[in-house]
Amino acid sequence: MSGQTANPTQKPILRALAGEAVWPPPMWLMRQAGRYLPEYREVRAQAGGFIALVTAPEMAAEVTLQPIRRYGMDGAILFSDILMVPWAMGQPLRFAEGEGPVLEPVRDAAAIGRLDPSVCAANAAPIMETVRLVRAALDADSPKTTLIGFAGSPFTVACYMVEGHGSRDFAAARGMAYEDPALFGKLIRTLVEASTDYLLAQAEAGAEVLMLFDSWAGLLAPSQFRRWVIEPTAALVRAIRKRQPDIPIIGFPRLAGPMLAEYAQRTGVQCCAIDTSMDLRWAASAVPEGMALQGNLDPLSLVAGGAALEAEARSILGAMRGRPFIFNLGHGIEKVTSPDNVSALVRLVRTG
Ligand code: CP3
Repeated sequence: MSGQTANPTQKPILRALAGEAVWPPPMWLMRQAGRYLPEYREVRAQAGGFIALVTAPEMAAEVTLQPIRRYGMDGAILFSDILMVPWAMGQPLRFAEGEGPVLEPVRDAAAIGRLDPSVCAANAAPIMETVRLVRAALDADSPKTTLIGFAGSPFTVACYMVEGHGSRDFAAARGMAYEDPALFGKLIRTLVEASTDYLLAQAEAGAEVLMLFDSWAGLLAPSQFRRWVIEPTAALVRAIRKRQPDIPIIGFPRLAGPMLAEYAQRTGVQCCAIDTSMDLRWAASAVPEGMALQGNLDPLSLVAGGAALEAEARSILGAMRGRPFIFNLGHGIEKVTSPDNVSALVRLVRTG
């Protein structure tokens, strides 16, 4: 296949995103490149650190492709992180072993004013190089695999930027949103601008689909969800569509519950990714007719494997048969997952 470009209409993920009930459904897994794979741990050790790995295009492309080679996934998600946007705007970031991400928090007008969205895409140039390398490799060897670029949604990225680290409730960020909505709004607008450029640069480098991770959307009261999730996501989608009118966008408002309905109607995304807590049939009834869904296997059922995994996967397939659907997890894969359980899941989904 070298030198040929696949007809994009033949890619199962793009067909599902266009509203076709492709069956068996296409599949990929959130965090499919990661520490559960021995070949990932090997490259990660060579790179020295997580940010070093993300900003080394050859190595980042290699780990992006590992799950494609091993499992033949229909989607390849760029190996990067949602926190690379604040990093590219100059906010100091490190990933501490066993501790997760640590940022120097931005909590006042001076710190937020120093963030420059216009430098984000340029500072993220190595990530765009990864996109180009992965796209070329897929075109040559895996012409049915879709390259998925991504960013965090403004609200979820703001949570980490204000808090400075992971949290169960992100009280500092959500508190700022009530106490100083003008300042929090400025941070959100900065993120909409930076993320627009960053995602457009990924699309220009070869990403065929864009996904917005809003992992902490479900923490918000409905009024706040509308203001800080729906409105900024809609603005981001509009800005991307101005330059890339046809690129499909997947939104993942994790733990949104009943707010999913408004999210699906008002943000302009083509597809909603559904978290593990949500009943898929309910989700299908809440989103506009014909909208593709993605999800939502419990990552812990994939750790368990065997009959529990089979029952959960079959229940999802049964609920989604006849609909435009992309099989995935409801949250990222756990690092204790056996790679053999992933093989068993792929076999099961491939037989529909
Ligand atoms: O395979 C893929 O899905 C592609 C790459 C990807 C990573 N992070 C790599 C990563 C993607 C899409 C993300 C998204 C991400 N990052 C989210 C949204 C999805 C979610 O999980 O809710 C969030 C909230 C983050 C922020 C983040 N990055 C945290 C909280 C952590 C620490 C937790 C952990 O699993 O270690 C990270 C680190 C991270 N991002 C790793 C990977 C593979 C582990 C780093 C390592 O190898 O040491």
